[in-house]
Amino acid sequence: MTAHAPLTIEARSEAPAATIDPDRSLSWIRRALPVMRAHQKVFGTSLVLSFLGLVVAVQIPNLLNKAITNSLQHHSVALSSYVWWTVGLGIAGLVLGYVARMLLYRTAYDIEYDLRNIIYEHLTRMSFSFYDRVQSGQLISRANSDIRSVQMYMTFAPLILVQCSMAVIAFIFMLTINVPLAFVAMLTMPFVYFAGVRMRQSMFPVSWIIQARLAEVATIVDENVNGVRVVKSFAAEEQQLRSLADAAERVQWGYIKDADLRARFTPLVQNLPQVGLVLVLLFGGYMIVHGHLGIGAIVAFNAYLLMLQAPFMMLGMLIMMGQRAAASAERIYEILDETPTVVDADDAISLTDCRGDVRFSHVDFAYQEDAETLVLADFNLHLAPGETVALVGRTGSGKSTVARLLTRFYDVRHGSVEIDGHDVRSLRQDSLRDNIGVVLDEPFLFSVSVRDNIAYGKPGASRADIEAAARAAGAYEFIEKLPQGYDTVVGERGYTLSGGQRQRIAIARTLLLNPPILVLDDATSAIDVQVEQMIHASLKKQMEGRTTLIVAHRLSTISLADRVVLLDNQRIVGDGTHAELLATTPLYAEILAQAEALEVAP
Ligand SMILES: Nc1ncnc2c1ncn2[C@@H]1O[C@H](COP(=O)(O)OP(=O)(O)OP(=O)(O)O)[C@@H](O)[C@H]1O
Ligand SMILES: [Mg+2]
Repeated sequence: MTAHAPLTIEARSEAPAATIDPDRSLSWIRRALPVMRAHQKVFGTSLVLSFLGLVVAVQIPNLLNKAITNSLQHHSVALSSYVWWTVGLGIAGLVLGYVARMLLYRTAYDIEYDLRNIIYEHLTRMSFSFYDRVQSGQLISRANSDIRSVQMYMTFAPLILVQCSMAVIAFIFMLTINVPLAFVAMLTMPFVYFAGVRMRQSMFPVSWIIQARLAEVATIVDENVNGVRVVKSFAAEEQQLRSLADAAERVQWGYIKDADLRARFTPLVQNLPQVGLVLVLLFGGYMIVHGHLGIGAIVAFNAYLLMLQAPFMMLGMLIMMGQRAAASAERIYEILDETPTVVDADDAISLTDCRGDVRFSHVDFAYQEDAETLVLADFNLHLAPGETVALVGRTGSGKSTVARLLTRFYDVRHGSVEIDGHDVRSLRQDSLRDNIGVVLDEPFLFSVSVRDNIAYGKPGASRADIEAAARAAGAYEFIEKLPQGYDTVVGERGYTLSGGQRQRIAIARTLLLNPPILVLDDATSAIDVQVEQMIHASLKKQMEGRTTLIVAHRLSTISLADRVVLLDNQRIVGDGTHAELLATTPLYAEILAQAEALEVAP
């Protein structure tokens, strides 16, 4: 075992109990409701407890009123009994408030966890074309700050509403004390509401802009970190810093605008209840002077209005949180509403006992659906079971594209790709990819040990199998020389290894799976010719009985193949042995000569 947990394909977390409602016509809150409902027990308990806490708290000003009237003014009841009641209610309110908060925070983090899993699960299902388009910084910011703001709103909004319901109870209590004064006290509340609505209208666009610009910053930071080698080698730090500063400035503009609006509205929303207080003192005082009201009543009113301030202040906050959350939810839904383009058919079957017969017939393909020029047009190619075919072509001619279509990373526009006579679209993707081992031209390694990287597709593989795969890929010697051998943890993306070493680990990773069909896309381009010669014998053995497609530039790699096909102008223009193509197709000799020249030049 290594210090890092091995990568597995099994899900370690439980799937979220609910997901977002797919109906796009619903409001964002309605769409998120199923996620909240999954936690309704704890959430509901928390709300009920906080409501009870408030009901308790609301009694206290009324008790004060009675204490002043009955004990201090009329001396009819002992003051101590009121004191005990007040202390008792105070403690009960505290305990209820504590438990309610605790349960609320638990719900909040559960909802956040669910939302993050929903997004991640969705991302794992998305097709390659999606990842060609999106920026990872955008995804990261949506999976973090946007989720946070939605979660905050979903959990705190109901709490604040419960607290505002206290206003109703307090109002009823006020009515029982004195009807006209109760109305005077509440006089300012409609204005608070209208100020809130105005605030919402002006703040929503700004919140949206802020979230979008934060994502831009995340994208720049992400590219700077991942592309740091390019940035530094071009001494482009200044330029990158400038673009980051520009993006940060744009965020700052949004925040300043936001602060400006907030500064304009918040004091209004917060201080209107104070005006209510003044009105109560004025009218209440007048009534007391004329003997229509007791001193206790005005003390109670005062306490109620102070109590109401908190919820109304929070109501203002709620409105602001609502702006953010709505903007964030839209951005999250934008991802969740993307449907994967490559999906299993309902009646998809598993590819079993694969013989390795591969056929492309009349394939038309372009990466963009609406593109006019095709990458492949009327492309035909057949690989008999067990055959090794080298695919040769100029750079950009579509060789990697052929490999990607075979594994159904993308769907063809016309024609078909068939394995053992089954259209790949009729096969289950997992079974298809189990049977095809691909070594991509840019091998990606994970930041785990060399062993776990090789065993990525087969986490339970034995040590002997892993070493055999490493040996077949010509990686055995250099791995043994690494500081901790197979337990050496490679840096992010494998950057602590050389390009050729990375490629060899990637080849070992694929060979370990022992797939009946093997695709090597320029898999040995960074391995020097001597090492390549060394591993040829074992590669040749590995290819026996397997259908293998090798994308190659070098003569040495091409020599591994039984047959060579030449790709040019969207289709196969030459097909035969190396000698035949040399004799018949001038383009072939030209491409080989270019590859050779490149090999020597640097
Ligand atoms: N993900 C993508 N989205 C859009 N266009 C793409 C994508 N990948 C490749 N292309 C385009 O498709 C064409 C074929 O690309 P492909 O990667 O198949 O070439 P290749 O023959 O493998 O080249 P090389 O020898 O340089 O690896 C190119 O014109 C390229 O610009
Ligand atoms: Mg390529």
